[in-house]
Amino acid sequence: GAPVEVDISKLEPGQLIRVEWRGKPVWVVSRTPKMLEQMKEHEGQLRDPQSQEPQQLESSTNDFRSLRPEIFLAVGICTHLGCSPGFFQGNFGEKVEGTDDGFYCPCHGSKFDMAGRVFKSVPAPLNLEIPPYTFLDDTTILVG
Ligand code: FES
Repeated sequence: GAPVEVDISKLEPGQLIRVEWRGKPVWVVSRTPKMLEQMKEHEGQLRDPQSQEPQQLESSTNDFRSLRPEIFLAVGICTHLGCSPGFFQGNFGEKVEGTDDGFYCPCHGSKFDMAGRVFKSVPAPLNLEIPPYTFLDDTTILVG
């Protein structure tokens, strides 16, 4: 598992790109100001809003679960049984009350917000995993 360099210079607000790290899909998302606002509004509906579960890295336990609020990285594997959640924008509202954008796992209906935090009353037990990463410069991330 060598670290993977990701160029985010062309990443547009609201866009998600996928890279592979150690055979796992890793998402890199540019969160819009609206997405960051939404995240505060549904904390009461989340199972572990502060990401206190013990598997979490220290860098994933702040309010945004990220080193920079606007840039979000997560391992794109559902913490229930390992399916691949989809990225929903705008039309997520019908699936999860109180949020517009997030990730939805089609296998058994688990729902995660734009910080990969799992909603209550879905089968996934944990928030999405955040991979270790650092910023090499303003537009280059090293995952791993
Ligand atoms: Fe995602 Fe079951 S694997 S909800």
